Amino acid sequence: MQIAIDGPAGAGKSTIAKKVARLLGFLYIDSGALYRAVALSALEKQIDPQDEAALARLLQGLHLDLSEDAKGNQVVQVNGRDVSRAIRDNKVSQVVSVYSAVPAVRQLVTARIQALAASRNVVMDGRDIGSVVLPQADVKVFLTASVAERARRRLLQLQAQGEAVGQETLEAEIAARDQKDRERAVAPLVQAPDALYLDSSNMDIDEVCQHILALIRK
Ligand code: CDP
Ligand code: CDP
Repeated sequence: MQIAIDGPAGAGKSTIAKKVARLLGFLYIDSGALYRAVALSALEKQIDPQDEAALARLLQGLHLDLSEDAKGNQVVQVNGRDVSRAIRDNKVSQVVSVYSAVPAVRQLVTARIQALAASRNVVMDGRDIGSVVLPQADVKVFLTASVAERARRRLLQLQAQGEAVGQETLEAEIAARDQKDRERAVAPLVQAPDALYLDSSNMDIDEVCQHILALIRK
């Protein structure tokens, strides 16, 4: 069984996907984490997203892995190095959409997550899961919330990580990233025609989970 959860930044996708996966005993795959890992690697090597040759060389040498530690927390590795924390920095959030729009980057990540999902029960979240990565998914959800609510949620997360950002700056950054994700030529953020639209602006995590679990049971 495959469950696809797509939507814009800060909608609650990863929190809810992880919880639903745990409740059902399914594998959780966070596709955004791999796009973040690529962006982090490119930033560290100072590779311009326009420099196709340098980016292709980088991608050739990248091995991306997703696993879980003993506590059930997701671990993201690039060539064996744990980058789980580093990929959440706001400086990665600010550039990730530019790298994720590059077709070669999308090919690499899509192939990797499709391989991870092959013949397993999975909950996968991202932007193009229901539309491109798992078009045959059994349940598809398009999860969203207002920009103000998503920025408020993300602000709390960043504060907990010790990063100081203003609410207005964050709202502008999130809106700009959503726009880039929606307008790119390859595999844009889109609601698949057969996906359930869910606005969680006024819903807490449990309510959203219950809603999705009911849909899966049906
Ligand atoms: O957690 P947050 O909503 O901030 O984003 P994410 O899921 O970690 O994804 C980070 C970025 O990766 C997105 O803004 C997209 O540019 C890209 N992404 C994508 O293009 N396709 C996906 N399936 C998942 C993420
Ligand atoms: O993965 P995505 O960027 O869509 O969002 P997330 O990282 O799962 O959620 C962003 C933050 O919002 C987390 O701290 C969640 O605990 C919180 N959240 C919430 O307060 N209410 C919801 N209904 C969903 C998420």
